[in-house]
Amino acid sequence: MRSRRFVSMADTENGAIRYEVTALNFSGSISFCTYIDGDIKNEDSNYDEKFWNILDVNASEGGAYLESQTKKSDFRVGIAMKYRTSVNGKKTQSKPEVIQLAKWVGNKITFELKEGQTACMEKYVGVTSSLNYAADQLKSNAEELASYAYHKGFDQLFTDHQKKWAEKWVHSDIKIKGDVAAQQGIRFNIFHLNQTYTGEDERLNVGPKGFTGEKYGGTTYWDTEAYCVPFFLMTAPPEVTRQLLIYRYKHLPRAIENAEKLGFNKGAALYPMVTANGEECHNEWEITFEEIHRNGAIAFAIHNYIRHTGDKNYLAEYGIEVLVGISRFWSQRITFSEARKKYVMLGVTGPNEYENNVNNNWYTNKMATWCLQYTMESLEYVKQNNPDRFEELVTKLKLNEEHETQRWKDIVAKMHFPFNEELQVHMQQDGFMDKEQLMAADLDPTQRPINQHWSWDRILRSNFIKQADTLQGMYVLEEEFSTEEIERNFNFYEPRTVHESSLSPCVHSILATKIGRIDKAYEMYLRTSRLDLDDYNAEVHEGLHITSMAGTWMSIVEGFGGKRAYDEKLYLNPDIPSQWEEYAFRITFKGNDLEVRVSETEVEIISHAKKTIQLYVYKQLVTVEPQQSQTISR
Ligand code: BGC
Repeated sequence: MRSRRFVSMADTENGAIRYEVTALNFSGSISFCTYIDGDIKNEDSNYDEKFWNILDVNASEGGAYLESQTKKSDFRVGIAMKYRTSVNGKKTQSKPEVIQLAKWVGNKITFELKEGQTACMEKYVGVTSSLNYAADQLKSNAEELASYAYHKGFDQLFTDHQKKWAEKWVHSDIKIKGDVAAQQGIRFNIFHLNQTYTGEDERLNVGPKGFTGEKYGGTTYWDTEAYCVPFFLMTAPPEVTRQLLIYRYKHLPRAIENAEKLGFNKGAALYPMVTANGEECHNEWEITFEEIHRNGAIAFAIHNYIRHTGDKNYLAEYGIEVLVGISRFWSQRITFSEARKKYVMLGVTGPNEYENNVNNNWYTNKMATWCLQYTMESLEYVKQNNPDRFEELVTKLKLNEEHETQRWKDIVAKMHFPFNEELQVHMQQDGFMDKEQLMAADLDPTQRPINQHWSWDRILRSNFIKQADTLQGMYVLEEEFSTEEIERNFNFYEPRTVHESSLSPCVHSILATKIGRIDKAYEMYLRTSRLDLDDYNAEVHEGLHITSMAGTWMSIVEGFGGKRAYDEKLYLNPDIPSQWEEYAFRITFKGNDLEVRVSETEVEIISHAKKTIQLYVYKQLVTVEPQQSQTISR
């Protein structure tokens, strides 16, 4: 038996299967049953309750149609299929058995095969949904799509699919010489990222499991801005990331409504921690009310997009509205402590979800003040460069710039950041040193992962850190810290970190390279890149870690490659793990495409840009002419 199946990257509403059976040592009859099954039970259904109503079933000779509807949200999906069969490449004429049940439609085809012959069935599917079609148009369009694929044929569909993929690989591939396991790991990840999100539809986003599993319900998290945005920014045309930003822009009214429900006002926006349509859909208070750092990631993504693409129009047109909403939220959420004579942020959960309801999470405070500062600079930019738009914003946002920014400035100047003088380390939150200070390496291996062995109260009382938290801030705002400062904090926090979120090792890998601990970086890299292939957390049945796959890509390009974008400039500071002979990646910066090849002895920059480009390699200014290359010794 040989089977091949794909959902087309080129014809995005089509999928196809080619199924072949060869009679190796017998002659006899065999049957194929080709069907659409609407009787699906979702993994998180309660008491076996199914999520789908079946609205239409129809089977006929040579094809079938099934239409279903989600029970609560009335989301409709139409699936039409057509198929053809052959024996040794010759079309067969046998009459199928047509089967139509209440939730299942199909055809059964029986072949008389002689020894050595191959029977083949090609199934073509067209899928439509109420996201794109009126309810009464689902069927006709799905049937048309299935016919279109049927006439195009399996090979042509596949060739078009391959072509589309080849374009993606040109821009996003990473080649590693001398380490097959690492090469396979990164390609597996790049494949999945591109398969999950193409950036063609601003209503769509990237779920932590993509389409590979039902955990997290396909919804959007801060993962998108914190992890996926850097990947798409560097490997895809700017429009792809722009769509991710527009997704949040369109959800701004919902984020304002969300904040209002929690008692905030005057246009303060709190984006949901988890969403499908802009509304919060997580069900744990410590995450929905407290894990507010997501607002910071959403604001930072705007800055990240602009510094990589140079598309400053985005700021005036869309970004600024999101920034003002977010800054208004921080301004209301932060309070003044008379005791400290400082601003404080109480009752939050940082990225490290093994702490709840803490005061002054350093990362959240840091991101909040960064947002306020960036919003003020952005308002100034719009005022100077697009006064008409600024006037429009004053009315639309009921903006009283002078009055509002007065408080923002005061917060920036007087925010409290927990710091331990003795250790010279930023404290994850107030009171972190009250905890018994234990190291992850000393944990009994049978107790790990602790989230599967310990009670929540024990986890919350411990000092163990689920994922980068203070270090997440040092990664995002790296230019504010000296290498020594990063090293001190890394050496303090990493040994206390259990990396029980897949989003954790990549950030540590990047910082480890930064502080010259390449072996540690490599160890962390392997942990992230082969997480799903080797299934070492025994959880692949829940789906793949799609968003952390972007983190794996970051650990090569930003970690080993040392790629940074500050002050409108591109920097590279490449290192190479001793396990690798050479690696190469391709990035796009302000519309210019560059290939970077790193070996033990040299760094080669190959330009695919149309104009002369300049960048810094090991702090040295390098100029590369179009289609030329430059080699720098290491
Ligand atoms: C992590 C979050 C993340 C979520 C989805 C959780 O385990 O702690 O930071 O957003 O998974 O990936």
